[in-house]
Amino acid sequence: MRPPSRLFGRTAELEILGRLIANARRGRSAVLVVRGEPGIGKTELLRQLIAEASGFGVTRVAGVESEMELPYAGLHQLCAPMLGRLGSLAEPQRRGLSVAFGLASGDSPDRFLVALAALSLLAEAAQERPMLCVVDDAQWLDQASAEVLGFVGRRLLAEPVALV
Ligand SMILES: Nc1ncnc2c1ncn2[C@@H]1O[C@H](COP(=O)(O)OP(=O)(O)OP(=O)(O)O)[C@@H](O)[C@H]1O
Ligand SMILES: [Mg+2]
Repeated sequence: MRPPSRLFGRTAELEILGRLIANARRGRSAVLVVRGEPGIGKTELLRQLIAEASGFGVTRVAGVESEMELPYAGLHQLCAPMLGRLGSLAEPQRRGLSVAFGLASGDSPDRFLVALAALSLLAEAAQERPMLCVVDDAQWLDQASAEVLGFVGRRLLAEPVALV
């Protein structure tokens, strides 16, 4: 039995999020954007979503206005729990992501390579257990991270990954 939600008037939204989690659990990836005016309850819904996602590996990022000019600051938050898997990536992807995150020195990496690396990292993590990626305040993501997340969202296939 799950505890009752302490949210009022969000039955329909919670049902959609519950379905998304159930699908991801069964290996059907899902991408969902939650939109709404300030203070309407987006963060609260995401909190509830995370509480529902038992057994999922959860990785989160919250856009930070003061970090908007820092390329890959957001992606770094999202990938942090998975960085132990860097070694599983193809060498160019590993290098690209490592340079993007300041773990290796080199020329600024190709964004496509970074995006492929993020996708690979997520797919790799999802082989172990389903993954839930939660992005809050996406409007404050740095441009590079926003592009990479868009890429990842469009390319998730039959993987147990939910991106919200
Ligand atoms: N359905 C709800 N029932 C009860 N309280 C709620 C509900 N939705 C949101 N709240 C409360 O309203 C306040 C604002 O919600 P929240 O921070 O989730 O909004 P938000 O959409 O994320 O706002 P912002 O756009 O500023 O990030 C919080 O205190 C939250 O606990
Ligand atoms: Mg919020």
